[in-house]
Amino acid sequence: MVKLKLGVLISGRGSNLQALIDAAADPSYPAEIALVISNKADAGGLARAEAAGIATKVIPHKEFASREAFDAALDKTLRDAGVGLVCLAGFMRLLTPGFSQGWHDRLINIHPSLLPSFKGLDSHAQALKAGVRFSGCTVHFVRPEMDAGPIILQAAVPVHDGDDEDSLAARILEAEHKSYPLAVRLIAEGRVKVVDELVRFVDGDFAAAALLNPRG
Ligand code: GRF
Repeated sequence: MVKLKLGVLISGRGSNLQALIDAAADPSYPAEIALVISNKADAGGLARAEAAGIATKVIPHKEFASREAFDAALDKTLRDAGVGLVCLAGFMRLLTPGFSQGWHDRLINIHPSLLPSFKGLDSHAQALKAGVRFSGCTVHFVRPEMDAGPIILQAAVPVHDGDDEDSLAARILEAEHKSYPLAVRLIAEGRVKVVDELVRFVDGDFAAAALLNPRG
């Protein structure tokens, strides 16, 4: 099996990176992590990659005169490593339109809300303020606009009375760790197509039932 080579971009603790590392440890998983790049030298995720024997590179954004120059360095590093799919996993830098266009439909992100609701950094606070009964996470192809692009997969989790940002974030994070490896697998299996800026599945398996919260 020829595996899809992933480049994972992180800035922090890397729990989604860990979920990808764990999934890729299964020999039948159709993707492998070629390289982990962090813009921060102290990102906790770097140690996770090193522990798994994965190549890492720190590219500090502060050392570059412009976003374009930083993104060009990212781009070159990913291409030199033979990366076929770039996975943003808690990468806290906005990418230039040139970068995202250069990786069109080969660049994905995971965001902790049901997009297009609650874009941006404080998505859990936004969800609590809106009083929604479900939130969740979204894996999507990246387009130049922040937290936008064809949606590949979403997981819904209930919002409970009494939730605060931490409890909601923890519940969503658990769903993230299932969602990201699944989305990558579907892409690697060639089952995800973008048609007119919407994702269409080849042989999709869709949940039939409605979720209710509260149940009664
Ligand atoms: C996750 O909640 C992800 O959805 C968001 O940033 C967070 C990264 O967490 N984009 P981690 O570094 O993967 O633990």
